[in-house]
Amino acid sequence: MDLPYTPDDGALYWDHAYQTGRTRWHREQVHAILVNHYDKLNPDGKVRKVLVTMCGMSEDMNWLADRGLQVVGVDLSLQALTSFMSRDGWKWTECPAPKLGPDAKLFTRDDGKIKLYCGDVLNFSSDLEGNFSAIYDCSSIHNLAKSSRERMAHILKEVLTPHGRILLDAVEYDLKMLELDDLNIDAPVPPPYSITLEDMRNLFEPECSIDLVETHIETILCKRETNFKCYLIVKE
Ligand SMILES: C[S@@+](CC[C@H](N)C(=O)[O-])C[C@H]1O[C@@H](n2cnc3c(N)ncnc32)[C@H](O)[C@@H]1O
Repeated sequence: MDLPYTPDDGALYWDHAYQTGRTRWHREQVHAILVNHYDKLNPDGKVRKVLVTMCGMSEDMNWLADRGLQVVGVDLSLQALTSFMSRDGWKWTECPAPKLGPDAKLFTRDDGKIKLYCGDVLNFSSDLEGNFSAIYDCSSIHNLAKSSRERMAHILKEVLTPHGRILLDAVEYDLKMLELDDLNIDAPVPPPYSITLEDMRNLFEPECSIDLVETHIETILCKRETNFKCYLIVKE
């Protein structure tokens, strides 16, 4: 493995991953956890907008927009957002987003139903788009190292309305897995970092309650079968 960037290089690392197709997390179809647990994120059908943190070029944003929600995505990688936006018939406007950072940008689809912020999610706040009653965080927070993860949880709790909900999917694995010498990997690991239920409690309690709603197996980490855990987080 000879990569020009490390995860510490931030946008350069992630842009390079998207440019070179090292995106095993990306799916062409909507993620089953979103379909299976959407009713938990929007139990009374009253949610009007959803924040998708570290959204990449996820098809899940389309699926949410098709349900009638306004989608606000945030991602560091211009490459990922450009790939998502470049579809036949879609038109976007671009403007600076200084509240997210000096170089941050906001892309808005011309029907207004999808807004994509290109910048560091660790600078996101309710100053940008107000508060949200629904947040979707899929394969996202587990890419942040511990101190950044704490900051991210703080931001999510700040942005969430009372009784608001987060559907969050994150990996949990034993670090010993990374000691195996037959690992066939094409990127440094971590990220993603393992997150346990106890970590989740430390991040979100006591302001929120946490329920594990599903465990599913993925092979995107080191091509090994790994547990991904889907949590429902509800702000008190
Ligand atoms: C593993 S990908 C998951 C993308 C998407 N959630 C999905 O399910 O396809 C992680 C994403 O986090 C983004 N990212 C990493 N650090 C970030 C940060 N500090 N702020 C915003 N996005 C970040 C990367 O650019 C990448 O698109």
